[in-house]
This record gives sequence, C-alpha cells and structure tokens, in this order.
Amino acid sequence: MPAAPGPVLRVCQASPLSVLVKNGLSEGTTVHWHGIRLPNAMDGVPGLTQPPIAPGATFEYTFTPPEAGTFWYHSHADSAEQLGRGLAGALIVEESNPPEVDRELIWAIQDWRLTENGQVAPGFLKTMEEAMSGRVGNTVTINGRTPESVPVRAGERVRLRLLNAAPARIMALRFEGHRPVVVALDGQPCEPHEPAGGRIILGPAMRADVIVDMQGDPGTRHDVIDDFYDKLSYTLVTLGYDAAPPSRAHPASMVRLPRNPVPRPDMVSAEQHVIRLQGGIMGGTSGSGAIWSMNGASMTGDGGDAMKPLLRVERGRTCVLDLRNETTWWHPMHLHGHSFQVISRDEAAVPHDEWGDTVLVRPREKVRVAFVAENPGDWMFHCHVMGHQEAGLMTIIRIV
Ligand code: C2O
Ligand code: CU
Ligand code: CU
Repeated sequence: MPAAPGPVLRVCQASPLSVLVKNGLSEGTTVHWHGIRLPNAMDGVPGLTQPPIAPGATFEYTFTPPEAGTFWYHSHADSAEQLGRGLAGALIVEESNPPEVDRELIWAIQDWRLTENGQVAPGFLKTMEEAMSGRVGNTVTINGRTPESVPVRAGERVRLRLLNAAPARIMALRFEGHRPVVVALDGQPCEPHEPAGGRIILGPAMRADVIVDMQGDPGTRHDVIDDFYDKLSYTLVTLGYDAAPPSRAHPASMVRLPRNPVPRPDMVSAEQHVIRLQGGIMGGTSGSGAIWSMNGASMTGDGGDAMKPLLRVERGRTCVLDLRNETTWWHPMHLHGHSFQVISRDEAAVPHDEWGDTVLVRPREKVRVAFVAENPGDWMFHCHVMGHQEAGLMTIIRIV
C-alpha cells in the first residue's frame, strides 16, 4: 500500500500552533495550511512566500488558527507528484464548545494510481490528462487504507469529517439507508441541510462536516457509494452495524455549529472582478504553451513571484470574484488565506449560507464568490486539480 496520510493535527481554536517540518525528500518542498487565515509568510508557497525547504533542511511554521473547523495541510511544491504520492494530512481546529455527538470520525480520502504490484505509478504530468480531468487514479483509500467496513452502532450520532485529499478525483458520496446532514463546508459552518439528491459532492481539497445518525437496524450493512463519474461508481466503504440494540429511540435534534469570526462581505461597496477560466481540450489555448489560463494569462509549475498578480485589492475591501468557466471541465478553484461566501451559481442564489475556500465550478458554469480582503500579501488562486494548476490554472491575488 502507498504511504498513509500524515498525522492528524489537532489544535484548539485561537491557540498558537507551531510545526517543525523536516524535508526528508530528495527535492525541495513546502507545507501549505489549506483554508487557514494565517500570515502570508506562513502560507507555504515556494518562491512566493518562502524559498523551498531544501532536502535535509527544516522550517518552522507558526500561526494561530482563528477559525474552528476541518482543515488540512499538504505539500505545495512539485504538487502533482508530491500530492500524487500522498503528502497531505488533516488539520482539525476544535471549537471551544463542540456540538454533542457520540463519536467523531475523520476520513482523509485519497486517490492513488497504482501499478499492478501496488506501487504509485510514475508519470504525474501527462499532457493529454492535464488537458482533461487530471490524474484520476484507480485506488481510493480512507486514512491510508481500503477498509472494508466501518463498525457502527444503531442509534449513535457521528460527526464525520470528510476531506478530499486526492490530486484530481471529484467525489459524490451517498450513504445508503442514511440521511447525513451537512453542518460545515471547508471548515465553515453552514445552515444544517441534507445535500441535494443525498450526494455530498467534494472536489479535490474540499471538506464537509456531516452529522450521521446511525438509523440502520442492528446487524445490517449499508454501502457508502461514490458515483461522481458516470462509469466509475464504486463502494468506498460499508457501514457495519453491530448486534447491539439502538442506543436511543429517536435521533437527537439537529446541531448547529457556532459561527466562526470570518468577516462578512459588504456587497453594497464590493468591487467586482470577472475571472474567465479558459483552455483544456476543446477549450482553445492562450498561445503561451500552457494548457489552461485565467483571463488569458497562465502561471505554471509551482508558480512563484515572477508573474504579475491578476488582481490588486486594497485591504479591507469586499471583493467579488465572478468566475466564468469557459471550459468543458470541472475546476475546484481555491483561494489561499481567506474564506469566501458562495453567492450564486448561474445567477441563482446559493442557499444554506455556504462558505468555502474552494469552490467546485462545473463546465460552463458561472459562480460568484465574495470575501473581505483583510489579509495582506500575495495569495495563490488556483485550480486544485494538481495537473490543471501546474499547467496554467493558477494566479496571484495581491492584497495591499
Ligand atoms: Cu490546498 Cu494552493 O492549496
Ligand atoms: Cu490553500
Ligand atoms: Cu481545474
């Protein structure tokens, strides 16, 4: 089996965290703290916020997570390969008053392309693939393993923290015989709701906190199915009930997570920016040699500070990004150092007070997100399909 994800890091909301990273690879690396509103110098982007950590060298990351929620960390150098080889882990920031549940589970879900003898297959950037869906693998693991079943007990309430840590695979999870309720997306609380069609859709880098009341009968088994891709539906895992009688007669009332201190956008004074996502197979190219671009410009590879920022925003302003996907592919678009409110999709208001740091944009879709630019620095904005990022779907938003 491939290497498991890194350890789960747990910290209390608003308490300082320090992580010493030692690079044991034979190439440079950095660690990015995805979704955390932290000082720019701790953001872990090679060539932009720090030089890469050389092989054998160390770097200490210190920051204080202002928000509680399900976050994660991952390498941000040679991303297609380093993430393709699994350099990622969950970062849990705990509420001071967590909602009452019987149990908490974290599923860090990764997707691997394995050879017949179980090695991670080489070839992390193949032009044809990067111009399409990216490197979707053939083996999906939960916390580094392919567990057949997860033991559960009738009547119990579980808080399940889902993390899609795959380099390219999009997931749509259905819990047969269950009605999970989404209470947070990308770490940010939302109005508790059952997902549309019972499917929890997670693009790469996205997280969901769901409350699952185990309402199956003792002794039964229920599949958790990922059927995002038409012909690639598979059973991710099975919930296996033990024989014990239900621990409660009816599910408890729904919990709501306490709000985080993210600043609310001021839509009246907001500045608007149209960002066109372009390229890919059947999308036309910008002529730069890159496969993908935003408003005609492409930043490739690991990025860096050589490219002019796409936007320059004054600190404190509310910024609306009007994302227009002109391609025929899905793109999980991620902004570093901020959380945004997801305002509308194809002009229709998005319900449930949905926030995120990554928003999955469908082919040809228009999505508007808004955030307060309160964190100064140069922040990456890119597609989290690693092959798309490295092939041009990446830029910088500068907050001054
Ligand atoms: Cu998960 Cu550039 O980020
Ligand atoms: Cu990030
Ligand atoms: Cu993409």
